[in-house]
Amino acid sequence: MSTVTLQVVRGDRQSGSVLESYEVPFRDGMSLLDAIFWIREHRDPSLSVRYSCRSANACKECSALVNGKAGYLCTVRAVPGQEFQIAPLKALPWIKDLVTALE
Ligand code: FES
Repeated sequence: MSTVTLQVVRGDRQSGSVLESYEVPFRDGMSLLDAIFWIREHRDPSLSVRYSCRSANACKECSALVNGKAGYLCTVRAVPGQEFQIAPLKALPWIKDLVTALE
């Protein structure tokens, strides 16, 4: 089975951050937001991420740093065999995991 690896920043302002690694089964068309939903369903439901439209690139709530560049988790496609480092945006106050304060 093909997999994609997500290295996700976890934590909050009180406890600090750690990088957690998750191996996710790949499926065609999978976005990084889909991979995070898989992690929440199968590994850790406490992984926090903000989203609304889920794929229309309309709400912009899933903004995060992907391999150091700002992007939308619902539009970046997962690639089998590759590793993605996902972190909260640095320009906004951090709340928890991938969630930052709204502007
Ligand atoms: S969830 Fe709306 S833009 Fe990504």
